[in-house]
Amino acid sequence: MNKATIATLLMLALGSVPAVRAADAAETWEKTCVKCHGADGKGETKLGKKAEVKDFTDAKYQDSFTDEKAFKAIKEGIKDGDKTKMKPAEDVNDAAIKDLIKKVRGFKK
Ligand code: HEC
Repeated sequence: MNKATIATLLMLALGSVPAVRAADAAETWEKTCVKCHGADGKGETKLGKKAEVKDFTDAKYQDSFTDEKAFKAIKEGIKDGDKTKMKPAEDVNDAAIKDLIKKVRGFKK
């Protein structure tokens, strides 16, 4: 094997790492949460309106749930009877969930 081949194999091996590690908060927020909660946290997206998302910039709404409740919501999802309002976040570890809560809290005006 020459050096170029080794370098290519190494790059392939490293390239596969992100697929197995847990997604980080910023990535998950962009990929998943924005669909409903909106890039500005107001939830004024098509899906957000359908799901009846509330406005994260509203201080009163922010005060209505604790970090513990938010944690559970992100980890286990939110159900309204049999209806799923929000799916559990996929591929996030507890640290990423805590970062997501920080992100959510950051919208508060
Ligand atoms: C399918 C749309 C949808 C997606 C995608 C979604 N949410 Fe939600 N989210 C909701 C709805 C609906 C509510 C509940 C609003 C209510 O209280 O009625 C909610 C509520 C929340 C709450 C408040 C929890 C509470 O206890 O009241 C947090 C925090 C939250 N979402 C974070 C996230 C994060 C982080 C993501 C991405 C991993 C995400 N959401 C993705 C629809 C969504």
